[in-house]
Amino acid sequence: MSARHFLSMMDYTPDELVGLIRRGVELKDLRNRGVLFEPLKNRVLGMIFEKASTRTRLSFEAGMIQLGGQAIFLSPRDTQLGRGEPIGDAAIVMSSMLDAVMIRTFAHSNLTEFAAKSRVPVINGLSDDLHPCQLLADMQTFLEHRGSIAGKTVAWIGDGNNMCNSYIEAAMQFDFQLKVACPEGYEPDARFLALAGERVQVLRDPREAVAGAHLVSTDVWASMGQEDEAQLRLQRFKPYQVSRELLDHAAEGVLFMHCLPAHRGEEISEDLLDDPRSVAWDQAENRLHAQKALLELLVEPAYHHA
Ligand code: CP
Ligand code: NVA
Repeated sequence: MSARHFLSMMDYTPDELVGLIRRGVELKDLRNRGVLFEPLKNRVLGMIFEKASTRTRLSFEAGMIQLGGQAIFLSPRDTQLGRGEPIGDAAIVMSSMLDAVMIRTFAHSNLTEFAAKSRVPVINGLSDDLHPCQLLADMQTFLEHRGSIAGKTVAWIGDGNNMCNSYIEAAMQFDFQLKVACPEGYEPDARFLALAGERVQVLRDPREAVAGAHLVSTDVWASMGQEDEAQLRLQRFKPYQVSRELLDHAAEGVLFMHCLPAHRGEEISEDLLDDPRSVAWDQAENRLHAQKALLELLVEPAYHHA
């Protein structure tokens, strides 16, 4: 179908991605100055959440309202999707009524299946494989604090999960080196590693990974859907906690990011989010601004008056 989707950062050119995060900075400024900007009046975003969310739901819902449109929250519990309606059928029907659809799901194939039948843009609000919207916010946050990330070094500490896979895509698209430190058996997806080639290095030692890093990022040790493995993971990941002391081994001026929600005392030390090197709160806020830039790009502007 003809609509343009945002399922992965690889769907876009590096220039488009940098354009998006720069636009995020502009939209943030407009909002901070109280300027009304409503290009998406009458437009409606459907949001399907098969997993829990605070930031993603709020940022998309608030973002649509601020752009003049509306957002509808859909949970599988209350829709026919939860009762086995085929994804392709749901996509045909939903996209005949909505102007864009955001989906947070388990298997990434749910997104590609939906997108294949959707007449309107489909946005990945997190899958087991990727979390590209979060990376828009992360890249905007780095830009605001330190300028371009091109040529810099980023360390990912902990699980080779959906966020880590998205960091690998970002390394290719935003042109930085990525060092991943993870326990054996918890490496990022081999498909993403193969695509990235020498841009990404997988290590075991977190200290080695953060050496020279301009940005250090981590995430929970058990992602949504891995609740049964949480206890085992707690043991396996213990040496991978990011602390103030670990950040001391990074480059001068290093930033720390966490997509949140965080588990203090697990993947981060109790005090890390209070450290001046942490920009996690700005990062969370930037979900709103970066995704408004994405919605502005993907959603057709308002109807003409009759
Ligand atoms: N970072 C993130 O996606 O947060 P939520 O799970 O709260 O949406
Ligand atoms: N890796 C985490 C990210 C949450 C925003 C998860 O998938 O649960």
